[in-house]
Amino acid sequence: MIIFFVDQNHKNKTLSEILDIQKLKDVDKQIEAANGLPNECYISEDYLAYERDKIFCDKWTVVGVGSSIPNAGDAKPYNLLGIPLIIIRSKDMKIRVFHNVCSHRGFKLLDKPCNLKNVIRCPYHSWSYDFAGNLVATPHIGGLDIHQFDKFDKNKSNLKEVKTKVWMDIIFVNINSNEIDFNKYIKPLEQRWSKFINNDDHNLLVHSNDYGYFNLEVKCNWKFAIENYCESYHLPTIHPELNKVSNINDHYHIQGLPNRFAGQGSKKYEQPVKGNKKFNTFSNWEKSMLKNSEYIALFPNVMIGLHIDHFYVFWLEPLGMDKTKEHMQIYYVGDESANGEELKELRKENSKFWKNVMLEDVSAIEGMQDGRHSPVYNGGNFSPAMDQPTHQFHKWVANSLI
Ligand code: FES
Ligand SMILES: [Fe+2]
Repeated sequence: MIIFFVDQNHKNKTLSEILDIQKLKDVDKQIEAANGLPNECYISEDYLAYERDKIFCDKWTVVGVGSSIPNAGDAKPYNLLGIPLIIIRSKDMKIRVFHNVCSHRGFKLLDKPCNLKNVIRCPYHSWSYDFAGNLVATPHIGGLDIHQFDKFDKNKSNLKEVKTKVWMDIIFVNINSNEIDFNKYIKPLEQRWSKFINNDDHNLLVHSNDYGYFNLEVKCNWKFAIENYCESYHLPTIHPELNKVSNINDHYHIQGLPNRFAGQGSKKYEQPVKGNKKFNTFSNWEKSMLKNSEYIALFPNVMIGLHIDHFYVFWLEPLGMDKTKEHMQIYYVGDESANGEELKELRKENSKFWKNVMLEDVSAIEGMQDGRHSPVYNGGNFSPAMDQPTHQFHKWVANSLI
């Protein structure tokens, strides 16, 4: 397994030593006068170390989805730009995230996905933790066959748990425990989507086991995927086929306030169909909006797409300054649509459709990465009519950094 680290040497620089702060301030202007994020935000390793703290540790960040650890005891390691984590489903089916490090000598506890029976056992000296992170066994700590030691207080050496919340199967973590309460954080989006789905509908979402997942590795900074997702401006050039059915003019901007998400919606969504077969639909969907679908980037690193008959989570795993793994997870309404044999071909086609769209975007986002090495470009500008949601994301990043 290849592991990417943020070089610790890069940690000590202040933001003003990394980039021109005025350039960041110029992002948060009226769109006509605003500058995009400066080049360092896409190509500087010093910046990446800063961003890891200010964006990925300070905010609600996505590290995976619950359906990839469906059973009690399922556990997987996750590397957040060098920070080792464990994502585990405990016996009460709750998802928990811990720092993946033994409190004894600091051995990394879990190396690959597995199903654990009762404990997380450290391979080094076999200290063991239960699924709530409690240190429950310290073999030979007092000498051979003496497993307790008076002067050692086990309770002080439990695993360090990370603040975690699962919403629509998406696992959010707030490593630095300093972000607002998740329910408050997500409320503006839930209110926006209340015309489509309510809380009961969340329970109807079922991940498809056969054509419900693919991933893409792209050679660019994670932010390019978000900014590209926020706008429909590139539809005619990058997605000419899609533009024939859902034209650029059928789209509208989405700008969440307070500024936590942005994206676009379409008014021309057509349900996929094969013969007379279609996927089940959400029953509480506003009748006047049956053809609406919405594509929202929830900052920093997850893009979600909601349609009357399916939902997807397209989340980003940053692997380095110019390397990102995109994970696509697809959900349907109820088990029959998600896993029934009758709709298998339709699921296959739907997955292929999205994969083609995401593949078309790869050239766009990798092209922006290449361009960011130019010394004559330093953030560029925005179309006041077409780039508002992208500008909104830039503002969020800039304000999170300062
Ligand atoms: S480092 Fe884990 S038991 Fe020693
Ligand atoms: Fe696109």
